[in-house]
Amino acid sequence: MEPNPESRRGLPQPDADSAAHSVSVAAHVGRRIEEAGGSVSFAEYMHEVLYAPGLGYYAAGASKLGAAGDFVTAPEISPLFGYVLARQVAAVLAQLDGGDVLEPGAGSGALAVSMLNKLAELDALPDRYLILEVSAELKQRQEKRLLAEVPQLMERVCWISQLPEQFVGVVVANEVADAIPVERFLIDNENVMQARVGIGPDGFHWTYAPAPAFLESAVRDIESDIGHALANGYESEVSPGLAGWINGLTSAIDRGLLLLIDYGVTRNEYYAPDRHGGWLRCHFRHHAHSNPLVLPGIQDLTAWVDFSLVAAAARGMNIAGFVTQAHFLLNGGLEDELQNFADLSIERQIELSAQVKLLTLPAEMGENFKCIGFSRGEISTPAALLMADRTHFL
Ligand SMILES: C[S@@+](CC[C@H](N)C(=O)[O-])C[C@H]1O[C@@H](n2cnc3c(N)ncnc32)[C@H](O)[C@@H]1O
Repeated sequence: MEPNPESRRGLPQPDADSAAHSVSVAAHVGRRIEEAGGSVSFAEYMHEVLYAPGLGYYAAGASKLGAAGDFVTAPEISPLFGYVLARQVAAVLAQLDGGDVLEPGAGSGALAVSMLNKLAELDALPDRYLILEVSAELKQRQEKRLLAEVPQLMERVCWISQLPEQFVGVVVANEVADAIPVERFLIDNENVMQARVGIGPDGFHWTYAPAPAFLESAVRDIESDIGHALANGYESEVSPGLAGWINGLTSAIDRGLLLLIDYGVTRNEYYAPDRHGGWLRCHFRHHAHSNPLVLPGIQDLTAWVDFSLVAAAARGMNIAGFVTQAHFLLNGGLEDELQNFADLSIERQIELSAQVKLLTLPAEMGENFKCIGFSRGEISTPAALLMADRTHFL
């Protein structure tokens, strides 16, 4: 089945290989839809187009991250991001008297490289640097990159396929929460409807059915939290999988810190009346748009994170802080990382200034991205989370 070209007007043309791959992914999802009797929930659709083995966006060979891919993340923009994170990790490991780092969803391996380099420089290497990656293709790419860029530290790096038990150390997950499949819902005359994906001659299309009990109850909880009913026609997302993922991480941590960085807002902002279209974003060749039903398997799908949901799911750990990415970096030692700035070549200064701007300016990643930290055990709050804390907004 050819995805309907009209519905992706304004987006770049995929190359021939990508277009052929997308046709295979569409055929696979089409079969799932037929097997399911004509439609699948949006969460199932998102899961298939991102993670179907050998086919999904994260499971197959697309470039994904970086200039040649579809989007860039903070560690891809600059190693400064990883250096500041490493400073927080070093402070925690010192208090724990050692321990491990765990990075779920390590993407291209950029963050692991910058953190390991800085931790080595600070003489604060973890016992092990564990990576939990669901994509076999990305795991291979990570191995190759780490072997090329930090060969001397490879003995500490270890890929794991499930969460460790009684983890002691620091967990760092950048832009993983937004990649967890979400459910989409619509309020129709006070009823909660589940957005589902069907298939027809023109490709995939939306269809709606009465919400299953778990989704209805998640939406009613949201209405109770925000203090009013969502309006007729309101459409948005909820992430049942995110709560489960956070629960898994918090249960695994015996002592230490969990740091999550992602684009997101509080629950009140997430379900504000003016956000009646939801928070799904799609990325294809550095074009952001909001139609997840086109380019199956060759574009990234993400949903902004409801940080109030994250905080509720992590109950049992202490909230160490909730700050914007700009505050995280500026309070966490970014300035110290730039201390020899004036001695650098003018080209390097320009390069670094551009990276700092992208990471910290409010109109770039500075405010949309937040960092939330949770601790367990006797650990003092890392410097990056100490100031401009927004926990009270959650
Ligand atoms: C947007 S990329 C971010 C990559 C990297 N953290 C970065 O900042 O560049 C999302 C990553 O999360 C991984 N991922 C998605 N769901 C996951 C899960 N449940 N556990 C671990 N990794 C996951 C994907 O395979 C991918 O590596």
